[in-house]
Amino acid sequence: MTDPATTDSTIDPVALLSERFERAIRAAFPDLDGSAQAMVTASRQSEHGDFQSNAAMPLAKRVGAKPRDVAMRVIEHLDLAGIAEAPTEASIAGPGFINIRLLPDLLGELLGRLDSPELGIEPPATPRTIVVDLCGVNLAKQMHVGHLRATVIGDAIARVFERLGWNVVRQSHVGDWGLPIAMVVQKLVELEDAGIDLASVGLDELNTIYRAAQGECKAETRALETIRRFHTGPKAEIEAELRVETANEALERAKTRLVALQSGDERTVGVWQRIYDITMRACLETCAQLHANVTNEHSAGESTYRGELAPIVQDLIDRGIAEESDGALVVRVEGIKAPTLIRKSDGGFLYATTDIAGVKRRVQELGGDVLVYCVDARQGLHFRQVFGAAKEAGYTRKADGSEARLEHAAFGTVLGEDNKPLKTRSGENIKLTDLLDEAVQRAGVTVAEKNPGLGADERAKIAEAVGIAAIKYADLSGERAKDYVFSFDRMLAFEGNTGPYLMYAYVRTQSVLRKAAEAGIAIDENAAISVREAPEKALALTLLRYPGVVHAVGEHLEPHRLCAYLYDLATAYSSFYENCPVLKGDDDAVRASRLRLCDLTGRVLLDGLRTLGLPTLERM
Ligand code: ARG
Repeated sequence: MTDPATTDSTIDPVALLSERFERAIRAAFPDLDGSAQAMVTASRQSEHGDFQSNAAMPLAKRVGAKPRDVAMRVIEHLDLAGIAEAPTEASIAGPGFINIRLLPDLLGELLGRLDSPELGIEPPATPRTIVVDLCGVNLAKQMHVGHLRATVIGDAIARVFERLGWNVVRQSHVGDWGLPIAMVVQKLVELEDAGIDLASVGLDELNTIYRAAQGECKAETRALETIRRFHTGPKAEIEAELRVETANEALERAKTRLVALQSGDERTVGVWQRIYDITMRACLETCAQLHANVTNEHSAGESTYRGELAPIVQDLIDRGIAEESDGALVVRVEGIKAPTLIRKSDGGFLYATTDIAGVKRRVQELGGDVLVYCVDARQGLHFRQVFGAAKEAGYTRKADGSEARLEHAAFGTVLGEDNKPLKTRSGENIKLTDLLDEAVQRAGVTVAEKNPGLGADERAKIAEAVGIAAIKYADLSGERAKDYVFSFDRMLAFEGNTGPYLMYAYVRTQSVLRKAAEAGIAIDENAAISVREAPEKALALTLLRYPGVVHAVGEHLEPHRLCAYLYDLATAYSSFYENCPVLKGDDDAVRASRLRLCDLTGRVLLDGLRTLGLPTLERM
């Protein structure tokens, strides 16, 4: 998805080597059909070399020769000048691995190139536009853990593309329109008529009213049928009839209210606006608490499409893309059995209709080359239907004739320790703010234990950053599409693949630099970086992977790749720090080189954490 030309292939040794290997494979086997895969990876055992190419084995199958002979032929055509020692027959190991040892000064040189403000990630010559669907809260409802994922992952993906130099447009598809909202509006109007001052209503009350309204409008027709079938008695039947009748009446009132809302009735719109404001104020506060860049300007609720739905549906009818089915209107998409329903038989539009309008706006007005929808995996069919229908309709085509790329960046469910979707003990959705507050409070306890001397303000600041980073990192670090088990203990640990561990790794790099400054030793940007010891080498190789990893996150829309990378980097730094004295050594050149490594590591960690949207600290 990212432009390969912008990956700075001169920094990552894997990219450098792959290029040379591919050239050699082509030269050695000129008749080869298809791609020449270099299959270069870092060596597991450094005594054999720094890298190895595993190309010979699959290649041998394709050309019908012995892997070792294939490896030999590749070597004969391999030019590694300026990168590595020339491989010989002795470089071939096992069934045909080709071991590579880099030139001693190469890593230092490459690190010098990485050491720029861009850290090896150059902006593309012509930036493209990505629209990221994230957050997507619903009116009159609290944010819950599902919105945690839509917000945290969506924001991380957006930040990665910002880092890569794309134009990024965030869109929060707020569920702010339709019958369920009209039910709440109707309830509020009734409350106001009964003399209740709506100014005192907060999101908690709205949430309760929402549930009450839903319950009230739900006709228990089934229950009535059962009662009739089993002749439970006239009293039960009459009561059930009454309930159904009351529910039907409530539903009718809500439907009338929806019409009033749609036609712009002043009082109705006023009440709706109040619900909108209350919900969004709370939502945006939570986003701020989450350090997620989701603000008012990113809100593009379903209501903003209300004037676009009828014309779009008409357009689809006129062009023969939509067809009637049992009084309703559908678009049939090749390869998907269930047709996309875009208008109900009662004339109402659907979730899908609005999303089709959304695709059109995002591609044709906002100029999206790529649309990413960071939404629960359970909406997979919905997005296949919407993407398919929008494509049929030509709404995915940009003004210049190019096709936008549409991706559902689906995420899994947050589970409790019982492996069921995370809920409160009484089975309700957990409010996201409660979860965040608890993380911060628990982080405060740990921070106080670790560092009892901290003042209250300092402790609160650290606890806030650690608690939020822990939650966000736990959400980002697993494979996006998978479910994960939510565990405060695990995510708040200062060891292992956690947010706090990475924050701490960054803090450690900074404390070395501070100590150096106190001792009057400045970082010399012109000092040669010499990479000699094994832990130094491992750190160097990890650092050089950074630009490629950020590009890969963009390519696959998988923030966990960056998490895993940062964890590798923190681990490599930790072993470097333990084994390679920085300030204690008495060789000035070694000290200058190692200080640069500390500084670079710190900057990459900081850049990586920020690119994921994680809070960072200078001290903790
Ligand atoms: N409001 C929806 C929900 O809570 C999420 C919106 C997702 N985005 C979209 N374009 N449909 O399920």
